[in-house]
Amino acid sequence: MCGIIGYVGNNNSVPYIIDGLKKLEYRGYDSAGISIIQDGSLVTVRAVGKVAELEKAALIANPKGGTGIGHTRWATHGKPSEENSHPHTDCTGDIVVVHNGIIENYLTLRAKLESRGHRFKSETDTEVIAHLIEENLLHVRASNDPDRLLKAVQKTNKEISGAFAYGVLWARTPGLLIGVKNQSPMVVGLGKNENFLASDVPAFLKHTNKVLFLEDGEIAVLHVDGVTVIGKDGKEAKPKPVKISWDQQTAEKGGYEHFMLKEIYDQPQAIEDTLRTARTDFGKILGLDTEGIRKLRNIHIIACGTAYHAGLVGKYYIEQLAGIPVSVDLASEYKYRSVPQLPHTLAVAISQSGETADTIGAVKKAQSLGFRTLAVCNVLGSTLTRTCDSTFFTHCGPEISVASTKAFTSQITSMYALAVFLGQANGNLSKTVFDKLYKELLTLSKSMSEVVKLEYDVRHLTRKIYKADRFIFLGRNVNFPIALEGALKLKEVSYRSAEGFAAGEIKHGPISVIDKGTPVIMIMPHDALFEKMLSACQECRARGAFVVAVTTKAGAKQARGVADKLIIVPQAGEFLQPVINVVPLQFLAYWIAKRLGCDIDQPRNLAKSVTVE
Ligand code: G6P
Repeated sequence: MCGIIGYVGNNNSVPYIIDGLKKLEYRGYDSAGISIIQDGSLVTVRAVGKVAELEKAALIANPKGGTGIGHTRWATHGKPSEENSHPHTDCTGDIVVVHNGIIENYLTLRAKLESRGHRFKSETDTEVIAHLIEENLLHVRASNDPDRLLKAVQKTNKEISGAFAYGVLWARTPGLLIGVKNQSPMVVGLGKNENFLASDVPAFLKHTNKVLFLEDGEIAVLHVDGVTVIGKDGKEAKPKPVKISWDQQTAEKGGYEHFMLKEIYDQPQAIEDTLRTARTDFGKILGLDTEGIRKLRNIHIIACGTAYHAGLVGKYYIEQLAGIPVSVDLASEYKYRSVPQLPHTLAVAISQSGETADTIGAVKKAQSLGFRTLAVCNVLGSTLTRTCDSTFFTHCGPEISVASTKAFTSQITSMYALAVFLGQANGNLSKTVFDKLYKELLTLSKSMSEVVKLEYDVRHLTRKIYKADRFIFLGRNVNFPIALEGALKLKEVSYRSAEGFAAGEIKHGPISVIDKGTPVIMIMPHDALFEKMLSACQECRARGAFVVAVTTKAGAKQARGVADKLIIVPQAGEFLQPVINVVPLQFLAYWIAKRLGCDIDQPRNLAKSVTVE
C-alpha cells in the first residue's frame, strides 16, 4: 500500500523524507517521489523503481527546503510509471498531493474538472484532489486568510468519496503541511521544532516517538512549531500524544511480532477495500456485455497454492449462483493437460503476486486456445495483469508474509462478487436473491472484525496440540477448500504434517491415519451438511482423535459434547461463511509455528512468489 511521509522543520527536509521513504519500503511499492518547497516554488523529483533510484535523481536535482512530502506508490489506478507516481500537481503547479487509498468517484470528478478546463497529466485517481484544491482555493475569498489552504482542503473532502489519506503542500505557504485521514492510515510525529506526517510510525521513529494517531475525518495542520488537529465537526480536536516504545522492526509490523499476524488482522480492511471495487467495477472489468455474459458456457479457474484454494471456493460460488460449469486446475497441471477448445470459455487466473510462472504459463495456454482471460490479482502492473485481457484487482495491500492470509480472503470475496455479478447478468439469480446476496457481502467486513477476536481462544487451544506431528482438517462443500487451506497454512509455517480432506471421504482411506490424540479440525458451520459433519466428528472421536469444531453459535449447541473443543465463529451468509471460517485456521497455524519456534514470515524452502516453473 502506498506510503506517505511529510516534514516541516528548520532543517532541509530532503534527507528526512528519503530516509522516511526507505523505512516505508516494507509496505511494497513500484515508484517513488518527493516535492520540496524551495524559494516559493515546488521542486518535484519522481522515479520508477526503488527509493535508491529516487535518491540518485534527488542528488542531481538537489532541492533544498524545510517543507516537503514524499511518497512510495503501490499502483492502483494507472500503471507504474513516472507520470503516475506521486506527488501530483494541479494546473498551476503550485499545489502537490500525495495520497494513499482510493477516490471512488474520481472518474465523475475528473470529467467535471476537465470540462472546466483542467488538464490532467496522469491516469491516477489522486490527481483530482490537486485540481479540486486548486479550484477551492479560489472560493476562499480573503487571499490573506491564514487558513486558506485548510478551508480548501475541507471543501475538497466534501466532494471526494472513498478511502483516502493524503498530504498537501502549497508553494505559497512554506512551513505548512496538511494531512487528511479517512479510512486509510495517517499519523503525526511530534518533534522539537519539526513535525512529521506519515502513513506509518516507522517513517519518522528515528526522530520522535511522540505520535498522534488521527481518527477518520480528521485533518492535521502541521507547522514548524506545532500541530493542530481539526475534527470531523470542523472544530479543533485535541488528541493525546502516544509514546511509542516499539523498535523500528516492530513498528513496521504495526506493533505485531510478525507480518503474518499483522496481515491476519488487516483482513477486515482488506475485505472492505476489495469490495469497494467489486461493487462498481465488474461489468466494465470483464469487458463483456450482457449478451457476452449470457453466452459464457465454461469457466476455467487456474492458480497455485493458496490462490488455487480460493479458486476451488470460486467453483462452488459460480456454479451455484451463476449456473456456469467451472473447472479448477493447478496452473502447473493445466499447462500440460489436454484442454478441450470449447467456445465461450472464460479463463480466470487467480494470483496474489501476478508473477507466478506456472499461472502465467497456464494463461498463455488458455489464450492460445482462444479463451478470454481475467486475472484476479493483487499487484497492478504485474506480468499476469499485463498478460490477461482484463484484471480484477483484489486491493488487499502488499502481502509480505510468505504464507498468504489476507490475499486469500480477498480472493474468495472477489470470486463471490464475480459469481453474484454473473448470476445476475445471465438471469440465474432473481433480483430479490441478488439483493440479499449483495447485502450479505456488505456485512462481511464487520463479521471479519468479529472473528479476529478469536485469536486468544485459538492461541490457548494450540498449547494443547502444538506438539502433535500430524494434523487433519475436514470440511464439506464450500468448506472443503477451507480444510485444504487450513492444512496448507499449517504445513507452510510450522513444517508439521497436515492434510485436508472432504469429510465424506475419510471413511475411504484417511481415517486410517487417525490415532489417539491426533488433532482433527472440523470446519462445520450450522448448514445443510452439519449433521453429516457431526457424524464425521463422532467417527474421529471413536478413533481417539482430539476434535476441534469450528462452528457457528447455532452449531455449538449440538457440537458441544461431541467435539473436544469448540471455536465459535460469527455467522455470515451461507456462501460467505468460508471467508470467516478460515481466520481461526490462520491463527492456529500461526500459534503452532510460534510455539515451535519456526521462522513464521520466511518459512524454510518457500518463496513468496515462484517465478520459475
Ligand atoms: C508460492 C507461495 C504460496 C502462494 C503461491 C501462489 O508458492 O509460497 O503462498 O500461494 O506461490 O502465489 P500467487 O502469488 O500466484 O498467488
